[in-house]
Amino acid sequence: MNDKNKYSNVTLESVKRNPAVNAFIKSANDYLGTIGYTEHGMRHAGLVASIAENVLLYLDYPKRMQELAGIAGYMHDIGNVVSRYGHGQSAALIAMRLLKDIGTTPEETALIISAIGNHEEEAGDPVNPVAAALILADKSDVHKTRVRNRNISKYDIHDRVNLAAKRSFLRVIKDRRTISLKLSIDTKISKVMEYFEIFMSRMLMCKNAATFLNCTFELIINERKLL
Ligand SMILES: [Fe+2]
Ligand SMILES: [Fe+2]
Repeated sequence: MNDKNKYSNVTLESVKRNPAVNAFIKSANDYLGTIGYTEHGMRHAGLVASIAENVLLYLDYPKRMQELAGIAGYMHDIGNVVSRYGHGQSAALIAMRLLKDIGTTPEETALIISAIGNHEEEAGDPVNPVAAALILADKSDVHKTRVRNRNISKYDIHDRVNLAAKRSFLRVIKDRRTISLKLSIDTKISKVMEYFEIFMSRMLMCKNAATFLNCTFELIINERKLL
């Protein structure tokens, strides 16, 4: 099969306009809100899509690969519509069904669903560049706007860490082969230690993903290099 047949002309923009995709993202986010989880809606989906796309752009991966990383990023949390548990796997299967209607080729669908199915700590490995980019993009979205719990007395550690994150930025420097996650954390709200308590496994995942992309992962919190 030549490259022409391997690729469709489905774009991230067309997936973002798909009513079924958006209905599932919206419902999944509503259900997670009901059980007290942070924001996983359009904001998170759109942001993860563009970060995943940019990771591969800055590392000079082919244009089509960048686009597929964007699509995987946009759809990655859609499985929360079924259940929080195993949502990576259910998201992959739901995405496969939706992408059939949307018109991606089997090769493209394979890349997208493998990335989606590997984005969570419990069962996630950087099995290809799209999966590695998605892991880095998803795990770097820590931000105060994700906290939905309005009752301070009910804040859990996830709420505190997200609320304390005033700024997060993933920087890819191709020449130095480094991928750095830079965070500004308000230590009056959450101690850096709390960040590590819940994010250690995520950071290890980012480290593996960066290694897969032939890069070194750095974690910089409040201008201090911690990893
Ligand atoms: Fe997820
Ligand atoms: Fe996510």
